[in-house]
Amino acid sequence: MISQYKTSQSLDGLECSVSARLGAIVTDADAETFRLDFLGKKGLLTVLRKSMGDFTIDERKTIGARINKIAAAAEEQFKTEFWKASAANAAAAAFDPTLPGLPLPKGSIHPSIQTTQEICQIFFDMGFDIAYGPEVETDHYNFEALNFAPHHPARDMQDTFFVSGDRDVLLRTHTSPVQIRVMEEVKNAGKNPPIRCIMPGRVYRNETITARSHCTFLQIEGIYIDKNVSLADLKGTLLGFAKRFFGENTAIKIRPSYFPFTEPSIEIDASCFLCKGKGCNVCKHTGWLEILGAGMIHPNVLKAGGIDPDVYSGFAFGMGPDRI
Ligand code: PHE
Repeated sequence: MISQYKTSQSLDGLECSVSARLGAIVTDADAETFRLDFLGKKGLLTVLRKSMGDFTIDERKTIGARINKIAAAAEEQFKTEFWKASAANAAAAAFDPTLPGLPLPKGSIHPSIQTTQEICQIFFDMGFDIAYGPEVETDHYNFEALNFAPHHPARDMQDTFFVSGDRDVLLRTHTSPVQIRVMEEVKNAGKNPPIRCIMPGRVYRNETITARSHCTFLQIEGIYIDKNVSLADLKGTLLGFAKRFFGENTAIKIRPSYFPFTEPSIEIDASCFLCKGKGCNVCKHTGWLEILGAGMIHPNVLKAGGIDPDVYSGFAFGMGPDRI
């Protein structure tokens, strides 16, 4: 191809056609075609410049210099007049308004919810199912079926947000009513224990708000009902949980307690994960953290859930993930 451009006439012709084509550019598409024909990788001027090696030294001085001049001028004019148009055009062509937008950051999961999920995962791994109950409950599920005596102080205005004037509908004060709902569900499905279930959810108490307590917080309830379930099973399960949640070297301490719905009732403390039992601000210098209330499910509660306490026994526990 280079041999065509060895005469000065042919180079005049080349110069003419380059400037004619430059002068004829009207649209962005024309500019792009020009760029491809003359200046792109396979464009005529680029190819000619790359072929200089085929010239003799003398030819390079004359013909080569001329080609360089034509190419440099064309490039210069194209860049100043048309480059922006063709670049902008390329950018516009690359923008596809039908593509989905960039996702906006969605925030993050609250520490209380994270803790709840982590705790649920540990019990889920042990074979527990997960169940949920309503936050607006009846006196029956929140108190009556859980063996609260008719005048138990927990029913008092002090602790409970009542929804109905007759005090029959209320905001649940704990997740224990879901125990009854789960037992009923199993019975209604024509099934029998074993039941292994954890029940996370929000609860409400009419209490003064302080730095350490709120009128609404989260709880996670757990039950295991089967033949021959004992306090040893409760202890083993919760020690296993504490070790997985707080660390392998965690110890637990069991204290006697009282809840109407469990007999015997206990409270469990875990050795403080921060000071490892030495005493610090978090454990109020005791070396121990109160983590949950628990016990063997009271026979009256099993009965209320439709389960025969002469055949089955079970344990229950309730913990506060906000606190944990
Ligand atoms: N429901 C009790 C509370 O809110 C906790 C608990 C659950 C205790 C299950 C024993 C068994 O304090």
